Amino acid sequence: MSMDNKKMIFSGAQPTGSLTMGNYIGAIKNWKALEDEYNCIYSIVDLHSLTARQDPKKFKEMCISFLAQYLACGLDAKKNIIFFQSHVRQHTELAWILSCHTYLGELNRMTQFKEKSEKHRENINAGLFTYPVLQAADILLYQTSKVPVGEDQKQHLELSRDIAIRFNNTYGEIFVVPEHHIPKIGAKIMSLQEPNKKMSKSDENMNGTIFLMDTEQVTLKKIKRAVTDDRGKVAYNDEQLGIKNLMTIYSTLTKECVEKIEEKYAGKGYGAFKKDVAEIVIEHLRPFRAKYAELMNNRECLVDVYKEGAERAEEIAEKTMKKVRDNIGFIK
Ligand code: AMP
Ligand code: TRP
Repeated sequence: MSMDNKKMIFSGAQPTGSLTMGNYIGAIKNWKALEDEYNCIYSIVDLHSLTARQDPKKFKEMCISFLAQYLACGLDAKKNIIFFQSHVRQHTELAWILSCHTYLGELNRMTQFKEKSEKHRENINAGLFTYPVLQAADILLYQTSKVPVGEDQKQHLELSRDIAIRFNNTYGEIFVVPEHHIPKIGAKIMSLQEPNKKMSKSDENMNGTIFLMDTEQVTLKKIKRAVTDDRGKVAYNDEQLGIKNLMTIYSTLTKECVEKIEEKYAGKGYGAFKKDVAEIVIEHLRPFRAKYAELMNNRECLVDVYKEGAERAEEIAEKTMKKVRDNIGFIK
């Protein structure tokens, strides 16, 4: 990737559990679509994962697995910078500085913090609270114009913008003010079991989550068992959230519009529709799983990717950090 005058993209996912169909449709599929038009940086945000307690051995394996999953989904390590967040120290340095320019009131409003601290009452740590500041640092370090994410990250992105604007007003034009890039359809894939809830890596009910690396039999079983309704009509509306969600998956993977899908299944039952959704998902994921297995058997190749990624990322991050340090007034 040459550092020409293309605009910058940054995004990332936390290496906890395993990538889901929600991560793919809401984020990674769109990362891939942007790789030619922009200079893209995609991180495995391992520092963010520390807000929950991790077992060191399992954590290491999960991080490597995430890198292999990113590449298996088709992200090109030649076109994009792909790296582990913890390998570029500037993220934590900038996070501290930004945390001194972020108000408690702003962090208190974050719905993800409220939800997570509600769910994990035994471990409401300071990192969970300042999580969005580290995220802002991730984004602002690379002079990012656009951040491709799912709907749930909108609030964090708005905070990143506010911090960037405040910082620029204080010290001069240091950061590009980023915009979110949220897909029109597929920004929030729902749980197959509770279609009013987001599909999540950490859902206790694994039947609600399609993992990209699930076996074909498991995928088929999960989709067949997806909760629907008793209307018996394949239609895209908010009264039929389960069917709407399956149609969203169908539509984003095939690029067929929902009206066309409604037409196609007019007069047919949910059984036939679910069978086709399962087939589309399985076909889509088959090459990913093959590539994943190949990559996990070729660890040296993964090491090359993350080492080179960190070097290239650090070079860009350090340029921004120099500007930040100078403008704050730190002695050189
Ligand atoms: P996370 O799994 O929280 O690290 O999220 C990584 C990326 O996937 C973020 O851009 C999220 O917005 C996106 N994402 C996570 N879950 C979903 C979902 N159910 N639907 C759409 N996007 C999602
Ligand atoms: N908070 C994001 C999530 O949970 C992950 C993330 C961390 C991120 N840093 C980022 C996403 C920077 C986009 C840009 O999904």
